[in-house]
Amino acid sequence: MDAAVAQALDRLAPAFRLSAAALRALADRFGEELARGLAGEPSSLRMLPTFARQPRGDERARVIVVDWGGTNGRVALIELRAQGRFAVDGEESFTFTDAEKVAPAAEVFDAIAAAIEQVVAGDRRTAFPLGLIYSFPARLERIDRAIALPLTKGWRPTGLEGADVVELLTAALRRHRLPNVVVRAVANDTVAPMVLQTYRARAADPDARPAEIGLILGTGTNQAADLPGAGIRNLECGNFDGVVAVETPYDAALDRALADPAPGAQRLEKMVSGHYLGEIVRRIVCDLAARGPAFAWFTAPAFRDPFGFESEHLSLIEADRSPTLEATAALLGQLGVSSSLEERRALRTVARLVAARSARLTAAGLVATLRRIDPALHARHTVAVDGSLYGGYPGYGDMVVAGLVDLAGAAAGRIELEFIKDSTGAGAAVITAVAAGKAETPPHLAPPHPKEGDA
Ligand code: GLC
Repeated sequence: MDAAVAQALDRLAPAFRLSAAALRALADRFGEELARGLAGEPSSLRMLPTFARQPRGDERARVIVVDWGGTNGRVALIELRAQGRFAVDGEESFTFTDAEKVAPAAEVFDAIAAAIEQVVAGDRRTAFPLGLIYSFPARLERIDRAIALPLTKGWRPTGLEGADVVELLTAALRRHRLPNVVVRAVANDTVAPMVLQTYRARAADPDARPAEIGLILGTGTNQAADLPGAGIRNLECGNFDGVVAVETPYDAALDRALADPAPGAQRLEKMVSGHYLGEIVRRIVCDLAARGPAFAWFTAPAFRDPFGFESEHLSLIEADRSPTLEATAALLGQLGVSSSLEERRALRTVARLVAARSARLTAAGLVATLRRIDPALHARHTVAVDGSLYGGYPGYGDMVVAGLVDLAGAAAGRIELEFIKDSTGAGAAVITAVAAGKAETPPHLAPPHPKEGDA
């Protein structure tokens, strides 16, 4: 490796390897923002009420679930069969184009309604409750009324902000002559892994503790938390801005370069989530290329064009265990790049720095939220996690755990991270079943759950 690049990498490392002290300061700041948000004071954490409640574990229902929060959406008919089991009867996926992200919102809801029509196979008689996972910020007024706040993740459909997403979906269902499908619940995606984990745990043991945090680490990142006295809240913590204290010039430049989300918005998400990690690496590579002869291929489209290099690529590089990084060479080859081993090693170093920082920032947010629930972290706690970054990047969970240890010492051993893949469908069914009050056991016969302080 030429000296200039080696030196640049050495300089880069400390800025990305957040020290335990820096992490603790971030967690403290996160805790302060959380308290301010809950008190209704200005805060980068919105702490939005969800009106969702923890399940008992014996709920049964047949629910149409809709999952929309990005480019890919999904509709399915899900049957909760209690004992923690569920079956998927029908399923339709859809993909939105970049044009649809800024088109009239009715187009999105029409696409969803058309998929629902497929899933119910034209059945216009059977009454179907519907649960909508809407993975953008929304101010809920009831479990079935959600006023859209400015969207994130590059979406800006017209006529959505300020409108009730349930009303918009209901109108689309009417246009598709499906009056038998009624939206009963709307929830953020973070709530889904939380309630699904609780549902499974309580199906096995009705007295099981609930999962107290639902965490998404995918295209975006966010937490829901079941907070004493406040119920289940959607933190919208992708917007946490305390991370400015540890930003690198690459983060600052990325933040300024984007119109959506606007500069200053979604600062934690821009340093943590899958949508951005590849882009941060791409920016670093371009910078290294400017410092010496290495990475002369940075003019290839994947490195020249913003967002040309993707977070999935980082996962492939991390998974490459061959001594000469053959899988990485093949990947770069597909991107039109012929690389040297030294360049591949440098690329891997950069990718690891960026991914590890993401995991450590996540750990800081988790510890801050858990301390709000249990200041000394005396008890055991469960964090239910879903998302392609957590599930797809090799060793990501271990890096989060390392961050938890730095922050909480031995207490980190009492924090369980449970990965719940594809939680949105069954999670939405659980949320809807709870909202509809459908249970195998009538409420007066159900065992009491004193830990459920979220009513
Ligand atoms: C973005 C959205 C948030 C969602 C997260 C994960 O941060 O604003 O609502 O939970 O992405 O999908």
